[in-house]
Amino acid sequence: MTKLPQDGSNDSQSKFKDEQIESREMAAPARAGFGTKVKRHCARFWWVHVIAFCLIFLIIALCLVYVGMPKIAQHDVDRSSLEFKALKFENPSMEEITLTQDGVLHNPSMYTPTLDSFKAGSYLVTNGSFGAKAIIDVQMPEIHATKPQSDQGVFKQVVPIVDIDQLTAYATEVVGNEYVETALAGKTKLHLGALPVVNVNYNSTSRYKGLNGLKGFNVTNVRINITAAAGTPNLVGNAFVPNPSVMTIEMGNVTLSLRTEKAGFIGTTTIPNFTLVPGDNNFPMTGTLNQTAVLASMVDGIATMLIKGQNVTYNGVALTYYEAALASHELVLPMNVLQIVADSAKPE
Ligand SMILES: *[C@@H]1O[C@H](CO)[C@@H](O)[C@H](O)[C@H]1NC(C)=O
Ligand SMILES: *[C@@H]1O[C@H](CO)[C@@H](O)[C@H](O)[C@H]1NC(C)=O
Ligand SMILES: *[C@@H]1O[C@H](CO)[C@@H](O)[C@H](O)[C@H]1NC(C)=O
Ligand SMILES: *[C@@H]1O[C@H](CO)[C@@H](O)[C@H](O)[C@H]1NC(C)=O
Ligand SMILES: *[C@@H]1O[C@H](CO)[C@@H](O)[C@H](O)[C@H]1NC(C)=O
Ligand SMILES: *[C@@H]1O[C@H](CO)[C@@H](O)[C@H](O)[C@H]1NC(C)=O
Ligand SMILES: *[C@@H]1O[C@H](CO)[C@@H](O)[C@H](O)[C@H]1NC(C)=O
Ligand SMILES: *[C@@H]1O[C@H](CO)[C@@H](O)[C@H](O)[C@H]1NC(C)=O
Repeated sequence: MTKLPQDGSNDSQSKFKDEQIESREMAAPARAGFGTKVKRHCARFWWVHVIAFCLIFLIIALCLVYVGMPKIAQHDVDRSSLEFKALKFENPSMEEITLTQDGVLHNPSMYTPTLDSFKAGSYLVTNGSFGAKAIIDVQMPEIHATKPQSDQGVFKQVVPIVDIDQLTAYATEVVGNEYVETALAGKTKLHLGALPVVNVNYNSTSRYKGLNGLKGFNVTNVRINITAAAGTPNLVGNAFVPNPSVMTIEMGNVTLSLRTEKAGFIGTTTIPNFTLVPGDNNFPMTGTLNQTAVLASMVDGIATMLIKGQNVTYNGVALTYYEAALASHELVLPMNVLQIVADSAKPE
């Protein structure tokens, strides 16, 4: 009987427990019911889940392949760069020119895609801004971009001149500038393994050396023929033209005009078959100078010649773009006239 109060408390505890059990028992059948429902549902409709999973997987995979991959491909094409090892401009006319382009394509990507052959415009890039039109159109051969680089070349391709003004601006920058920039831009298709073919924009700017104002130009071994009749060639010499670029430029027959501050126009010199190659160039030249004007221009035996391009003809056709480029830049050359006259008197 002494345990009665305890019993009483036990009683209330057990009541509480009973309630708990009861409430647990109330909930348990409901949960079990839901679980079995799910199980039953899964058992009956498992194929719906498989299809749903496959669809989601497919959508993600397709998104990666058709949305992600073109972006990655374009990004990698944008990261590639073309470095010129040699650029040759030959057989020029006002309509077309023969291009040889030896390049190295740098590919920083982990992929090695292939780009279809495509037509690219070559644009002049001045201080970062693109020319409104292309200079020339180049048919780029198929490119297999191996890692980390691959050779890319165009050999003696006759390319159309798209815009004479752009070509003139380009030739002028090439003659006057230490560096020039051009971009090859066009649309092509990219192939990578079994992945779908992707349309990409190729738009790659290359920076390379120009002629840097023909710095170092000189005329050596000059001989004057004092007895030559006025207006006939009375000067022969060697024109030395350094070319720090990788460019070979065939211009044809180049006529330079000479003047002095004192006398103004004093004559012309002609360099036949002028083709600049990389490195040092030496050309024989002949000139027709007004001897009176030369002598009148001397200061302490030195006449300072101001030289610039006047005429450039190839197979009889005037090439206005090279004429403008060579006229844009005046060369200053002090000539020791007394020394030249003395040298000219000596037998060869
Ligand atoms: C390009 O920049 C150089 C140097 O900043 C400047 O001398 C030249 O005039 C600029 N050319 C053009 C076309 O803006
Ligand atoms: C090439 O890209 C430059 C910007 O980097 C853009 O100004 C130019 O229009 C593009 N050229 C072509 C032909 O897509
Ligand atoms: C041109 O050549 C002559 C003779 O070789 C030399 O004395 C002169 O310094 C040179 N001038 C320039 C501007 O290089
Ligand atoms: C100089 O000119 C005269 C007259 O034109 C010519 O007879 C002579 O052969 C020329 N001399 C040289 C070295 O070219
Ligand atoms: C210039 O080239 C043409 C054609 O190749 C040739 O007939 C001519 O003799 C050359 N002239 C000179 C001075 O080298
Ligand atoms: C040669 O130059 C002198 C002096 O500058 C000038 O008087 C003469 O007319 C010029 N001769 C020719 C043929 O241009
Ligand atoms: C040479 O160029 C000048 C302009 O620089 C031009 O007036 C002349 O007609 C040209 N001569 C030839 C033969 O092309
Ligand atoms: C340069 O002029 C010479 C003589 O007139 C000619 O034989 C030669 O074909 C010309 N060269 C070119 C490239 O036009």
